[in-house]
Amino acid sequence: MRGPLGERHVSEPLELIADEVRSCTRCRLYQTAKKGVPGEGNPRADVLLVGEGPGFHEDVQGRPFVGPAGKLLDELLARAGLSREDVFITNVVKHRPPDNRDPRPDEMEACGDYLDRQIAAIRPKLIVTLGRHSMATFFGPTARISQIHGTTKPWRDMLAYACFHPAAALHQPRFRELLEQDFDGLPRALAQAREHANALASGAPDSSPTSETAEQANDEQLSLF
Ligand code: URA
Repeated sequence: MRGPLGERHVSEPLELIADEVRSCTRCRLYQTAKKGVPGEGNPRADVLLVGEGPGFHEDVQGRPFVGPAGKLLDELLARAGLSREDVFITNVVKHRPPDNRDPRPDEMEACGDYLDRQIAAIRPKLIVTLGRHSMATFFGPTARISQIHGTTKPWRDMLAYACFHPAAALHQPRFRELLEQDFDGLPRALAQAREHANALASGAPDSSPTSETAEQANDEQLSLF
């Protein structure tokens, strides 16, 4: 089976996609969810954050990352010098899976078209994956989050950057430090992604490194002081 993402789309208004998400019946999830959660943020963002799926609070409000994981996400973004106004935030699936279970392959496949169309509309330079399912969408099904978190990879004409999911640190405090490392590496990944985009736009060979860990980036940054 192909992955949840399929075709490249032409750009269309984000609000059109959001309206479709809110009335979507493509998979079973709408039957148990309260509200569709299309995503929100800066429609011209260079950074697109992709989580897994709405949880309890998101389902009630119809907005992404508004519960405890969202509060932590705001803190992590601030570490990277970013706020919600700078980024766009969405999920692999746009309706809440019952009891917060993992999204199923057919649900991710059904929802992939919305994510494809959001990417075409926003044209981000860096896609930040939050958690396993989002990571698998952009890094492939065999990638392991414990090995590749904090690294970038070319994806289409952008870069993808893998991070642990903020909820991981809420359940197991030992993940907090790893998450902080991932987000401390985000400015570096974004700089790389912008270089990558500039190189592609000018037709010059891209000299930016495309796979580097957050720890390496932090070590290099620290060595500057
Ligand atoms: N977890 C997610 O993956 N997405 C949300 O929107 C909220 C929590």
